Amino acid sequence: MGRLWLCLLALAALFGLAAPREKVTAQIQAHPPAPTMYHQLTLSCEVSGDPGPQEFLWEKEGHRDPLQKGPDNVLLFRSFNKTHLGTYICRATGSLGTAVATYNLWIDDLVNKVFVFPQATNDSHVLVRAKPEQPLQNFTLCLRSYTDLTRPHGLFSYATKAQDNDILLFKPKPGEYRLYVGGKFVAFRVPEGVMASEHVCVSWESATGIVGFWLNGKPWPRKGLQRGYAVGAEAAILLGQDQDAFGGGFDPQKSFVGEMCSVYMWDTGISTSGVMAAMNNRPANAPIFGWRNFPYTTVGEVYLKP
Ligand SMILES: *[C@@H]1O[C@H](CO)[C@@H](O)[C@H](O)[C@H]1NC(C)=O
Ligand SMILES: *[C@@H]1O[C@H](CO)[C@@H](O)[C@H](O)[C@H]1NC(C)=O
Ligand SMILES: *[C@@H]1O[C@H](CO)[C@@H](O)[C@H](O)[C@H]1NC(C)=O
Repeated sequence: MGRLWLCLLALAALFGLAAPREKVTAQIQAHPPAPTMYHQLTLSCEVSGDPGPQEFLWEKEGHRDPLQKGPDNVLLFRSFNKTHLGTYICRATGSLGTAVATYNLWIDDLVNKVFVFPQATNDSHVLVRAKPEQPLQNFTLCLRSYTDLTRPHGLFSYATKAQDNDILLFKPKPGEYRLYVGGKFVAFRVPEGVMASEHVCVSWESATGIVGFWLNGKPWPRKGLQRGYAVGAEAAILLGQDQDAFGGGFDPQKSFVGEMCSVYMWDTGISTSGVMAAMNNRPANAPIFGWRNFPYTTVGEVYLKP
């Protein structure tokens, strides 16, 4: 009997030494990871190392009062907007103690900034780190560019593995824009007046193939292409080059040199008032990505400047 007790005691000591109390940790995760203006966003506080019930205290840096307290580990923003930016703190308390996690919620708001592409290169571009959730039956793309190039250049290139020019906004010469969808294009003639920045929107809908084109807010006569087509969702999306392969195949003779800003893309059509709103960086509808929440990486020689 005494031996058994001793044995148990030894085991308990051994167990206690070999398996010290596991550290309780917490981590905040955002869904979706790149927030979109006026869309739902959740922050969830994930605890590991404590199986028991928890209480979650949510705080925001610079705010005196806690935001939320209770058994719910999720902080919900029904319609995310700029006022929600900041540092969030979650304190998860359970039977094994309290774990703390912090999260910086911020967006790249590029209003009043432009990308400068200083010279022709075979690699410089801006990679857009967002894409549609499903194949596109409709899309609208808007951007502003400012250049004195007279040679062909790619502005916006959306390539899929199946099709390099699944969407391509291309300017072959000063008096013309081309929109490619699924490798085919329609051209729009534009005036070649004095050099000025040009704001362009293009839209396409699969059901009719109709393409809309707006220059500086003014609608052009509509044309059509690729009726019944669907643009792939698994895309490499970039500014300032023309992809001749998924994510690459650049030709410096088609690279963009100049300034570009106010880039927006939606998975819907657009009205002329919607175009005007995008021109003013006050989009009425939430884009897939847009200048007020522009998830990007610059590659090579591209600079973000006021
Ligand atoms: C942002 O959302 C909050 C609610 O969470 C709302 O009170 C506020 O008016 C919104 N602000 C803007 C600029 O939309
Ligand atoms: C790109 O340009 C650089 C210098 O301008 C050159 O060294 C390099 O070989 C080029 N790469 C390709 C793939 O053409
Ligand atoms: C695309 O646009 C058409 C016409 O506006 C609409 O009827 C259709 O439902 C849209 N499709 C999707 C997938 O949004």
